Amino acid sequence: MKLEKMEKIHLGEYPTPLEKMEHLSKKHTGGKFNLYIKRDDATGPAFGGNKTRKLEYVMKEALDGGYTAMLTYGGPQTNHGRTTVAAAIKCGMKPILVLGGKKPEYLSGNLTLDAMMGTDIVFTTDMEKAAKEVIAKYEAQGDKVYNLPVGGSTLTGVVGYIMAVKEIMDQCEAMDIHPKHLVATVGSLGTFGGLNVGIRYFHAPFDVIGVPVSPGTKKETVSEFVNKVAEFYEMDFRVTPEDINIQYGPDDAPYSGEEYNKPDPLTRAAMFELAREEGIISDPTYTGKTFRGLLDMVDKGIIAEDTIFLHTGGAMAVWTKEHLDDMQQELFGNCTISEI
Ligand SMILES: Cc1ncc(COP(=O)(O)O)c(C=O)c1O
Repeated sequence: MKLEKMEKIHLGEYPTPLEKMEHLSKKHTGGKFNLYIKRDDATGPAFGGNKTRKLEYVMKEALDGGYTAMLTYGGPQTNHGRTTVAAAIKCGMKPILVLGGKKPEYLSGNLTLDAMMGTDIVFTTDMEKAAKEVIAKYEAQGDKVYNLPVGGSTLTGVVGYIMAVKEIMDQCEAMDIHPKHLVATVGSLGTFGGLNVGIRYFHAPFDVIGVPVSPGTKKETVSEFVNKVAEFYEMDFRVTPEDINIQYGPDDAPYSGEEYNKPDPLTRAAMFELAREEGIISDPTYTGKTFRGLLDMVDKGIIAEDTIFLHTGGAMAVWTKEHLDDMQQELFGNCTISEI
C-alpha cells in the first residue's frame, strides 16, 4: 500500500496553530533560542486532541466499509474514546465505549462528555469478553461494528501523524523558522510512531524526541512499530531502537511519574507554569508530563536549539476527582483568591 493512496474525511481544522511561546522562551533559554507550541489540542471536534488526525483516516475506512457502529476502548477517562464518539456521531455511526474498571458512581471529565453525547458505555474488568458480547448484541440488531483498538494507533490511524510532519514542515517554511526538535508524548504509539515515520519519509529538518507517559516504555517497541508501518506503506527505510529518541528523565523522578495517570506534583508544577506563562492548559496524564520533560531538557542543555512542543490535548482530565483533589491545596496556596 502506498501512503499517497490513503484517503481521509474532514473532522478537524488544519493547519493547527504553531505559535512561539514568548515568555517561556525568554525564561528558559534567555532568548538564545525559541520554544514553539503546535496546538493539536485545537483540532476539534468535542475538544479535539491528537486522536482527530488518526480518526480522519479510520472513519473514512469505516464509512467505505459500510460500518454503522464504532466501538473503541480505553480507561474511564480516555481522550481517544471521547474523540472517537464525536467522530462517530458526525459520521452517523452509533458510538460504543468499552472501558476498563467498575462502573463509577459519579461522572467527571471525559466521561461526562461521553454520556452527554449519548454513548453506549460499558464498564468491564474483562475487555475481550465484554467486546465480544457488545459486538454480538449490535450485530444481532443488524449493525456492522468497526472494532477500533485502544488509542486508534492502527496502520490506518497512524497516517494522521505521518502527514502531520508535512504540515509542520510547510508551516515552518511559511513562518521562516527552523526548529531542530519536535517534542511529543509517547502513549499507544500512533502519535510518536507516526511522527518517527513522517520525519524519515518526508526528510524533515527536525528530529522527534519522545516523553513516555508510562514507566517501562521501550525504544524496541517503538522501532518495531515504526518498521511495521514503514513496511506496510512500502517505504524504503527501517530503524533500530538506537534511532529512537525517548527521554526518560532523572531516575529518581522520571518524566512519566511513578505510573500512568497517577497525580504527580512535578507534572502539575509544569502544567501551572505553561498556564501562567502562556495561558495554555495542558493535562496531568499526557501533555503535562511531556511539557515537564521539555522544560527539564532545556534547563539541562539536552535541548539547546529551536524546538516545537506538540500539544496533543487532554485537558478534560483536569476535571476528574483524583486530579482536582490533588490540585486544591496547591492552587489555594499558590494563587490569589480572596473575598472582599
Ligand atoms: C492528550 C493525549 N496526548 C497524547 C496521547 C498519546 O498518544 P498516542 O496514544 O498516539 O501515543 C494521548 C493518548 O491517549 C492523549 O490522550
